[in-house]
Amino acid sequence: MNHFLDIHKTDQSALRGIIDQARAMKDARKGCPRGTPDADQPLAGHMVALIFEKPSTRTRVSFDVGVRQMGGQTMVLSGTDMQLGHGETIADTARVLSRYVDLIMIRTFDEAVLTEMAEYADVPVINGLTDRTHPCQIMADVLTFEEHRGPIKGKKVVWSGDGNNVCSSFLHAAGQFGFDLTFTGPAQLDPEAEFVGFARNKGSRVTIERDPVNAVEGADLVVTDTWVSMHDSQSSKERRHNLLRGYQVNEELMSHAKPDALFMHCLPAHREDEATSAVMDGPHSVIFDEAENRLHAQKAIMRWCLDK
Ligand code: CP
Ligand code: NVA
Repeated sequence: MNHFLDIHKTDQSALRGIIDQARAMKDARKGCPRGTPDADQPLAGHMVALIFEKPSTRTRVSFDVGVRQMGGQTMVLSGTDMQLGHGETIADTARVLSRYVDLIMIRTFDEAVLTEMAEYADVPVINGLTDRTHPCQIMADVLTFEEHRGPIKGKKVVWSGDGNNVCSSFLHAAGQFGFDLTFTGPAQLDPEAEFVGFARNKGSRVTIERDPVNAVEGADLVVTDTWVSMHDSQSSKERRHNLLRGYQVNEELMSHAKPDALFMHCLPAHREDEATSAVMDGPHSVIFDEAENRLHAQKAIMRWCLDK
């Protein structure tokens, strides 16, 4: 079963195939209105469940549009409205949904919910973000980088800020796609050691550098994300802001990266906190290409999951 649970759990060749297919499918639709069906309809007759236990704009809309472009149908379900949010087990939910739909995408809190869903479902399951990882986002980010700058292999990516779920999937991608990753942020918010170890074991150079200016030197790509994720308590906000203030991505920091460095943020952003508007709307920024590429990357992920 081709579940898409995480970048480090997916074969390198499958990952490369997904990126290449996403690019080809994107090219094939150039100039078409968004609602135009793809020439190819690999999801015709297929039903996809999109389950959200956390808010979402990009993931929700891009999956929904992507399925429709490929000829399939969707149902968007809120975790709290399902019996899942009222005591029904994940295993039973997975077995029931498998009788109705061909594919399940879930955004949840605890990674165990995702893995249990995959264990008991008879259909492929896609990770739409957990507290620990966000693989669909980083597939879109790799696609975005390569569209602008060619192969990401051997490039230097700098993550500035919180070593969170999005950072974790970047570490997985560093190992699988062969780029180097420098993390710069406070020690209290370092990325998970297990994921640093994964990337290093795959041969990626992972560096932890507390000084953001030193960190971004020679960077091909600078990335950040919100300082308070959906799973973080609001009571931790002030502490996190105090820890992270020095890691804001602003024009001064970008001036120390390569002159043609790209800037990424998965969005939603808190402008003037983790990144300034001058950077987000400036010449290095590809944030809206990233958002668009969620659509194309996920279409290729769904095709891979369904062997289409
Ligand atoms: N980047 C991302 O996953 O955005 P949403 O939370 O809006 O889905
Ligand atoms: N780190 C963020 C990503 C949102 C897409 C969060 O988990 O809230």
